[in-house]
Amino acid sequence: MEKFLIEGGHPLNGKIKASGAKNAALPIIAASIMGEGKTILHNIPSLKDTETMLKILTFLGAKVKFFNNTVEIEPSGIKRFTAPYEYVSTMRASICLLGPMLAKYGKAKFSMPGGCVIGPRPIDLHLKGLKKLGVEIKNEEGYVIGKVKKLKGNRIFLGGNFGSSVLATANVMCAATLAEGETIIEFAACEPEIVDLARFLKKMGAKIYGEGSHILRIVGVRKLKGTEYTIIPDRIETGTYMLAGLITKGKIKIENCIPFHLMALMDRLEEAGIGVKYGNDYIEVEGKDKWKAVDIVTLPYPGFPTDLQAQMMAFLTLADGISVITEKVFPERFIHVGELNRLGANITLDGSKAIVKGVKNLLGAKVMASDLRASAALVLAGLAAEGETQISRIYHLDRGYEKFEEKLSKVGAKIKRVRE
Ligand code: UD1
Repeated sequence: MEKFLIEGGHPLNGKIKASGAKNAALPIIAASIMGEGKTILHNIPSLKDTETMLKILTFLGAKVKFFNNTVEIEPSGIKRFTAPYEYVSTMRASICLLGPMLAKYGKAKFSMPGGCVIGPRPIDLHLKGLKKLGVEIKNEEGYVIGKVKKLKGNRIFLGGNFGSSVLATANVMCAATLAEGETIIEFAACEPEIVDLARFLKKMGAKIYGEGSHILRIVGVRKLKGTEYTIIPDRIETGTYMLAGLITKGKIKIENCIPFHLMALMDRLEEAGIGVKYGNDYIEVEGKDKWKAVDIVTLPYPGFPTDLQAQMMAFLTLADGISVITEKVFPERFIHVGELNRLGANITLDGSKAIVKGVKNLLGAKVMASDLRASAALVLAGLAAEGETQISRIYHLDRGYEKFEEKLSKVGAKIKRVRE
């Protein structure tokens, strides 16, 4: 196993180019199997998760080539319809193949994804939506088995107790593109990654209206064709590097990003007293010696993203005053709290709220990464801490950040990957 050694206290200064969005790439790669003929996707980040998704496609029988952030997928050889436990257990997002497989082949067998460190991860909304389109669903020996002769459009309310669901929307939207007749999805997710998926599907020939809103109308078509498409930049990666610059009191410009996808973060930073500059495709932040505590509530887009909660918490550990962070998407997503406290933070938990009392400084320590974004938060804290921080189990970071330590080193971070 590998770990990071970080020598903290060096301000990050310079430019970082954002990579393609992991959470857009995964459902778009999955949806490509619905096309007749080859699909070419650009700006696909080279990550453990995209690799896993491509391995599943290869296992199913598709021909896949991946080079220089471009992937070519020829799905015509697909002859298997099972996504086994080995894959689904390493990446829950493999569930986004369910809708495309049912739409194209009328059958799919998926190992049931379990919970994970960020809390229970049910798939009831995925199944409810697919059943409404006519899919018969059974559970057998830890697998969900779906079958359908002909998908039929329907009116579907897809809201759950925690609001909309990103991947349930992706699955139902994909399935509806090849269903007979019209589908209306109410309480659809409107994350930029869902909009990107809808745009990709439209390029394949799908008829989708209302993407980016909570109501989607999809008119089924008989066939989709393979196409060429470029994935949007990663807003979570962008936000992570903004916060890395700020927590180290440096100055960072993120290029090749979409600032409008990060309005919630920019709003909270402005409230904290940080100036943010942005243009069409860049964001620039300049750190300060002091920043104010601010309250955060995570919500589905365009609210503050749960995927930036941990990194924002790391930043707020050094704020002036007390911040309250309320997690409304995954109420148990606080595994990083204990580790941040090991670095000298003062955070207490009260149900789905974290109370972060700003401290003067953090001190390097040995900590353990637990999930993708929690690990990023520990790196940010380590970059700001005095002395050395060792972060073990960094394989979590490789799931979602392309060339993480390389990008950070280029702007002045002292971070090394070593074998444990
Ligand atoms: C996606 C993102 C993940 C992000 C999350 C929320 C990908 C690959 N992953 O995950 O990075 O943190 O959105 O922005 O895009 N829920 C149900 N029933 C369901 C499905 C979800 O109750 O069938 C609940 C979840 O437990 C959670 C909330 O809905 O409380 C939102 O989850 P969801 O949007 O589905 O997350 P994912 O799509 O899995």
